[in-house]
Amino acid sequence: MQILVTGGAGYIASHTALALLERGHVPVLLDNFVNSKPAVLDRIAALAGTRPVLLRGDVRDGAFVEQALREHRIDAVIHFAALKAVGESVAKPLDYYDNNIHGTLALLGAMRRAGVKTLVFSSSATVYSADQPMPLREDGALGAVNPYGRTKLMVENILADVAAADPSVSFTSLRYFNPVGAHPSGTMGEDPRGIPNNLMPFVAQVAVGRLPRLRVFGNDYPTPDGTGMRDYIHVCDLAEGHVAAIDHGHGKAGSHVFNLGTGTGSSVLDVVKAFGQACGKDLPYEVVPRRAGDVAACWADPAYAEKVLGWRATRTMQTMCEDAWRWQSANPNGYPD
Ligand code: NAD
Ligand code: WQD
Repeated sequence: MQILVTGGAGYIASHTALALLERGHVPVLLDNFVNSKPAVLDRIAALAGTRPVLLRGDVRDGAFVEQALREHRIDAVIHFAALKAVGESVAKPLDYYDNNIHGTLALLGAMRRAGVKTLVFSSSATVYSADQPMPLREDGALGAVNPYGRTKLMVENILADVAAADPSVSFTSLRYFNPVGAHPSGTMGEDPRGIPNNLMPFVAQVAVGRLPRLRVFGNDYPTPDGTGMRDYIHVCDLAEGHVAAIDHGHGKAGSHVFNLGTGTGSSVLDVVKAFGQACGKDLPYEVVPRRAGDVAACWADPAYAEKVLGWRATRTMQTMCEDAWRWQSANPNGYPD
C-alpha cells in the first residue's frame, strides 16, 4: 500500500516508516518540521536502502494534503502529526487545539475528497481517567486532565462519529503507553528539543553528560519502591504495531481502538538501574517532590491487540535502554541540522 504518514519525520513515525518499508509498503512522509529535522530521512534511507518521499508542509493545509493523497495514490493514512508536550499544552492550549484538532479535521476533509478510507491515529494512554485499577483495558473509563490529553480524546470521538456516519471508512486509534528506545542500529532515535520532559530521554542525557542528574519526581507513591510506574514500550515494537493495525484495518469498516503497551509496569528507579547497566555507570539522581498531574501507576492490558491484530511487544526494558544508549552516545546532540 501507499501510505501517507503525517508527522513523518518525528520519533515514532520515522521508526514506523522503516517498519512499513520492511513490510513492503511505500510510506510517503509529510512534515512541517516543527519538532523534527529532515536529516532523519538520510538515516531511514541508509537502513532501508530506499529513500521515502518527503513532503514539506502542514497537515492543517487541507488543499495541500488532498493534492498529496491524489498525486501519490494513497491507500491509507497514519496520522502522527501533533504537538505533544503536556506542560506546554497547559500554557498554550490554543496552539494544541489548532494543531491537533484543526489538523485532524483538515486531514479528514482531504481524505473524504480524495476517497481515502483508512486511517490509523496516534492516541495515548493519557485518554484514560486516573485512579482506575491496572491494567487498563480499552473499555476503561475515559477522561483527560490536560489540553493535550483532551485533544487526543476529542479526536478519538470525532473519528468514532465520522465512522458511525460513513460505513465505508476504517479508523483505528492506537493508545500508546510510554514509547522509549531507539532503532538497534543507533542511527535513529528520539531527539527532543531543549531539556527533555520525559524520563528516558532525560536519563539518556544524564548518561551522556549533557545533564548533571535526574530529578526523581516523588518516592512516596503506593508502588513497591515508591516511584511512579509506567508501561514503557520499545519504539520498534510500537512501529510494528502500526503495520499490524494498517494491515488489519484496511478494508474493515468501523472505528477501532487498541492499547499498544507491554502489559508490564516499571518504576523510575527500575529505569535508572536498567539504563545504568546499559551504559556501564551509576547515574546520579535526587528525589524531589511529585510532579503535578502525575499518577502513581499506569500500564496496559495489551490482550485485545494481540487477539485482534496478532501483535504483541517483545523487547525488554534492558533492550530499550541499550538501544536508547547506543543512539544517545553515537548522537549526543541528536540529528544534525
Ligand atoms: P514527534 O514530535 O517526534 O512527532 C510529531 C511530528 O509531527 C514531528 O515531526 C512534527 O514536526 C510533526 N508535526 C507536528 N505538527 C504538524 C503539522 N501541523 N503539520 C505537519 N507536521 C506536523 O512526536 P512523537 O513522540 O513521535 O509522537 C507522534 C504522535 O504520537 C503524536 O501524535 C503524539 O501525540 C503521539 N503520542 C506520543 C507519545 C510519546 O510519548 N512520544 C505517547 C502517546 C502518543
Ligand atoms: C514517566 C515517569 C514521572 C521525568 C507522558 C505524557 C503522556 C504520554 C507519554 C503523549 C513518571 C517520572 C519523569 C523526570 C521523573 N505522551 N519522571 N523525572 O508522564 O507517564 O507520560 O509521556 O501522549 O501523555 O504525560 O511520562 O516520561 O514524563 O514520566 O521522575 O525528569 O517518570 O514522574 O513517573 P508520563 P514521563
